[in-house]
Parts: sequence; C-alpha cells; structure tokens
Amino acid sequence: MKTIKDLGDLTGKTALVRVDFNVPLKDGVVIDDSRIQATIPTLQALLDKHAHIVILSHLGRPKGQVCPEYSLKPVADSLSQLIGKDVSFVDDCLKSPPSASIVLMQNLRFYTEEEANDNGFTDKLASYGDVYINDAFSTAHRKHASTYALANKLPAYAGCLMSKEIDALNKALDNPKRPVAAIIGGAKVSTKLAVLNHLIEKVDMLVLGGAMANTFLAANGYDVGKSLQETSMYDTAIAIMKKAKENGCEIILPVDAVVASTLEEGATTEQVDIDAIPADKMVLDIGDNSIAGIVASLEDCKTILWNGPLGAFEIKPFDIGTNTVAKYVAKKTQDNSLISIAGGGDTLFALTNADAKNDFSYVSTAGGAFLEWIEGKELPAIAMLNLSV
Ligand code: 3PG
Repeated sequence: MKTIKDLGDLTGKTALVRVDFNVPLKDGVVIDDSRIQATIPTLQALLDKHAHIVILSHLGRPKGQVCPEYSLKPVADSLSQLIGKDVSFVDDCLKSPPSASIVLMQNLRFYTEEEANDNGFTDKLASYGDVYINDAFSTAHRKHASTYALANKLPAYAGCLMSKEIDALNKALDNPKRPVAAIIGGAKVSTKLAVLNHLIEKVDMLVLGGAMANTFLAANGYDVGKSLQETSMYDTAIAIMKKAKENGCEIILPVDAVVASTLEEGATTEQVDIDAIPADKMVLDIGDNSIAGIVASLEDCKTILWNGPLGAFEIKPFDIGTNTVAKYVAKKTQDNSLISIAGGGDTLFALTNADAKNDFSYVSTAGGAFLEWIEGKELPAIAMLNLSV
C-alpha cells in the first residue's frame, strides 16, 4: 500500500482526501472533534507538500436526501479553527470546488450515488483532484464511491491516520507479541459472534464481560436471575467454549458479580458469587474477585485488544469493573510492559470515562470498521488501496 510518505512535492496539484468527519453535532456545533483532530497530520503533510486539498466525507445516514441537520458546514468551521486556516465549504458535491488551499465538500451521503458506489459520481469526484488519499479507516468497511471506487480512478495513497490504524491493528492480531489477550464486553453474544469466533483462533486468552458473559454463565448452568442474557445463544456459547479449548485459547468468565434490582444511579447493590445470583436481581458489573482474577491473568500479557465495556458503565457504580481493569491496562502500557489497542462502539466512551484512554497504546477512531476487522473480514477500502498502483 502506498502512503502519503511516497508522495513528492504537490505544487499545482490537488489532493482529494476522504476523511471520516462523521462527528456528533448539537445545535449545529461539533461537540466532539476527535475525528477532525485525527486527520490534521495528513492535512498538514499535504499542505507541507504545497498541495491544494479537497476534503470528502459523510456525516450520519441521510440516505440520499439533503438534510440540513447533516450538513458538514459546522465541521468546516471546526476544522478551520483546528488547522488555523480558512476552509472553503462547497454545499453541493456536484459543483467543482474553487482553487483554495483547503476545501470541504458537502456530505457525500446527500447523493444516493455515494453508497451505490456509482461510476458516474465517482468520475465527477475524481475530476476534483490529481491524487486520492484515503484517511478514513473508520469507513473502510464501506464499499462506497468515495471509499472504494475512487481509489481506482486516481493514484491512491493511505493517509497518516489510515496507516496508523492499520499498523496498530496488525500489531494486535496479525503479528502480536504473545501472550495476547482480548477483552470483549458488551450486551449480546449474537452481535459479536463473528468477533468471538475469529478471536479464539488468534488470541491466547479471551476475557468476557458485560451482559454477554451472562449468556455464557447461563449456558454453563448458572442461574443469572433477571440479568440481560440471550437464551437462544446457549448452544452457540457452548460451541465457542469448545472451539476455544481446541485452539488453546483460555476463556475467562466472571466469578462474582455486582447485582441490583434496577439499573439506576445509586441503586442498592450487593456482591455475590456467580452461583448465588438472587432470582430477582440482575448482574450489572463484574465483582471484586473477577477484577482481581482478570488482573492476575493479564499480568504476563504482552498485547491486549479491548472492545466493549465489562458492565453497565454508563451508570455509576456499575463502571467500577471496566474502570479498574482499564486503569490497570493503561498503567501496564505506560510501564512499557504491553501494547494495548482498543476500539469499536462505545469502547472509546468507556475508556474516556475510566480516564484511561490517553494511556492506551492506540485507541481506534473506528466503530463498525474496527469490529469487522477483528472479525477477520477484508475491509473493501483497504483492499482497494492495496491493489492501487
Ligand atoms: C462510523 O461512525 O462508524 C463511520 O463513520 C461509519 O458510519 P456508517 O456506519 O454510517 O457507515
């Protein structure tokens, strides 16, 4: 895959850059600019090479309709502040961009042709640039005009963020320092089935938490009371445990739990062993013995991959399990004892809540793309960059 480092001076040339500016907005203002900040190294590198820059992105899922609430205009303002330069905004992707230093085009998904990977639309976009840079790992699982077809129309390069994401993910699964552990939390086995099946072939240890662990415990014969669980997934859970054993992957399940009658802040809680969950209560976090067991198991690990919280972390005090394990992993990372890589869904939020995010080796900006990658799927945009000559 060619990267931005392979590009020489771009004086008089325009770089067409696909980024992921799918950021949260409130009342027309960007409320979390992490994804915008993450693209600055690529944009700055292109400015240093004297390129004109035309930026392409989607925002939300407007499904081919022009929806003002999904306009990228507020993002242009936010980017302008972050990069310290004017950003021209073009509110129609079919209008040629002006010859300015940095241009941000309107939301690509206002056009059905984007998600349809349409050839004519791709040609139109391609006419705006001389080279194509993909810096949007978090949309790499989408086979759209701007993420896929465009790489075939112009000389294509991976941006700094794309390269960083791929390097980090390779370190975690394709070429990891062992032992390697994956910590997988979240609500449902059914939504993470492909993830679990792929990981047990790759990692030495799989730590399970969140409501998903309840399904595994119930499949092992424990009564999980009123806890969230998927009764239809017992056989699947047993098959996963069997396959893990055959692959030499140890599965670590909670041995105790924090339970309550209701999921609300300040609810009365108690800690119980996993074989003593009261019939009228639900498991909302892992207990102290589980935390101690996980920490002891992770002690010698050299690589840790994390996706999903271990409890109902959005509501206190059910964030203690996630926070304690996250802080431990963060500390070991800072001590240079291991490499830690996290991503997907609400993982970023959980690690921010634990005040551990900045101490991980790498936290991916991606949600769905991160999950598809840990499922072992080929991501179309990356496959296309690899093919591009
Ligand atoms: C994301 O937020 O995960 C990416 O921007 C992809 O968005 P999508 O799931 O709407 O394609």
